Amino acid sequence: MLRFSMLLFFAVSATTISEKRQKCLEGAGHKYKPTPENYLQECTLYAKSSCCHANITEELIHSPIIKVNTTYWNRCGNISKLCESYMKKIECFYQCSPHAALWAHHQYPGAIESVPLCQHFCDDWFEACKDDLTCVNNWLTDWQIDEKGENHCKNECIPYRKMYANGTDICKRMWGHSFNVSDSTCLCLQMDEMDDKAIKIIEERFSSNSSSNSSGRSEEDHYCLQKMEKRREMKKMKEEGVETS
Ligand SMILES: *[C@@H]1O[C@H](CO)[C@@H](O)[C@H](O)[C@H]1NC(C)=O
Ligand SMILES: *[C@@H]1O[C@H](CO)[C@@H](O)[C@H](O)[C@H]1NC(C)=O
Ligand SMILES: *[C@@H]1O[C@H](CO)[C@@H](O)[C@H](O)[C@H]1NC(C)=O
Ligand SMILES: *[C@@H]1O[C@H](CO)[C@@H](O)[C@H](O)[C@H]1NC(C)=O
Ligand SMILES: *[C@@H]1O[C@H](CO)[C@@H](O)[C@H](O)[C@H]1NC(C)=O
Ligand SMILES: *[C@@H]1O[C@H](CO)[C@@H](O)[C@H](O)[C@H]1NC(C)=O
Ligand SMILES: *[C@@H]1O[C@H](CO)[C@@H](O)[C@H](O)[C@H]1NC(C)=O
Repeated sequence: MLRFSMLLFFAVSATTISEKRQKCLEGAGHKYKPTPENYLQECTLYAKSSCCHANITEELIHSPIIKVNTTYWNRCGNISKLCESYMKKIECFYQCSPHAALWAHHQYPGAIESVPLCQHFCDDWFEACKDDLTCVNNWLTDWQIDEKGENHCKNECIPYRKMYANGTDICKRMWGHSFNVSDSTCLCLQMDEMDDKAIKIIEERFSSNSSSNSSGRSEEDHYCLQKMEKRREMKKMKEEGVETS
């Protein structure tokens, strides 16, 4: 009986995950579920499986980016190219990632919550933006919004390096509770090709429910790194196999 209910538990939790996996976040022009997008001009990381339509990315093509939907990005002047590239990665993840729904907000299903970012990604983000200017700490809540839904500064523009203490601070605060900084160096996202592998392992861990054991953390990291290494090797062997055949 116990065995049966345990099996049932695993079956149920696995379904929830695969359902979540095939679904997109609600609202903000998201599709119901991800499909390929062959004409993305930006956010191409998600071309194979995308929750956004190609038109969403049109606003992200021309640098400096002025406005995305109703939000002006240049309220404190044009953003630097480097800083912009990080803003874009975040925007693309929210708009297009087929995995964003794994972190759907428990109360607002159109929002994300505690997406685990890699420490080094946060540190690089801070480094990229530190000399740019901003007038808000939390980009979701600190603006004055007018009747057209457009954002305005309530406070003066100051450099990011004064607004945020460091990379951890920028990741945990700029988009409210959307992102967190992982204490794992492997089970975390960095908005590049490695994310698919990290997410696969995160999902496996979710469904076997071993992530609840925090004393197994370093072991988890070790397992993750090993698995990534194995996948890299297999990929390398495959590529070499293709070259020689
Ligand atoms: C654009 O902004 C409006 C108003 O804030 C919002 O309702 C809509 O979902 C946004 N669309 C996208 C694609 O983000
Ligand atoms: C983008 O394209 C989709 C599908 O073609 C459409 O439903 C949506 O309204 C378009 N959004 C904008 C902002 O043009
Ligand atoms: C910001 O960028 C736009 C578009 O390239 C340019 O026309 C404008 O002069 C820039 N503004 C400043 C203050 O550099
Ligand atoms: C980053 O800033 C936060 C908030 O001020 C602080 O608590 C934390 O110790 C800092 N981390 C590092 C690595 O300096
Ligand atoms: C954020 O990440 C830290 C480190 O992994 C974790 O201890 C904490 O519980 C997370 N916070 C939330 C709200 O998920
Ligand atoms: C994981 O298992 C523990 C008991 O071992 C249970 O208390 C917890 O609710 C489970 N977590 C999830 C997300 O199912
Ligand atoms: C947690 O994981 C550690 C290391 O894998 C293991 O030794 C320990 O028994 C686990 N604890 C629980 C409560 O599952």
